[in-house]
Amino acid sequence: MSYVKVGKIDDFVDGKGSEVLVGARRIAVFRDGQQFRAIKNICPHEGELLHRCAPREGAAVCVGHGWRFDLQTGMCTKGPSDSRVAVYPARVNDGDVEIDLG
Ligand code: FES
Repeated sequence: MSYVKVGKIDDFVDGKGSEVLVGARRIAVFRDGQQFRAIKNICPHEGELLHRCAPREGAAVCVGHGWRFDLQTGMCTKGPSDSRVAVYPARVNDGDVEIDLG
């Protein structure tokens, strides 16, 4: 486990997605109250940025063409079933939002 700080809780708007950059990685971070989810920020369909969507029912729905990705598993639940995005564990630690990049 290798958690890195990506910001403070209040840097993230509740109910919205944000993009953070860690090295060359583009990561979409979604805030739901005090809970955070992090996934790769590139849609595997045509490369739309997934942080631009508002999360719905635990999923990110791509603003490009509506593919839907479960925020816990990364699995595509609307679109090709063999498609997925990487998921990164996220936590709050003393007011900081941290992501485990593995
Ligand atoms: S770019 Fe995401 S569904 Fe098409």
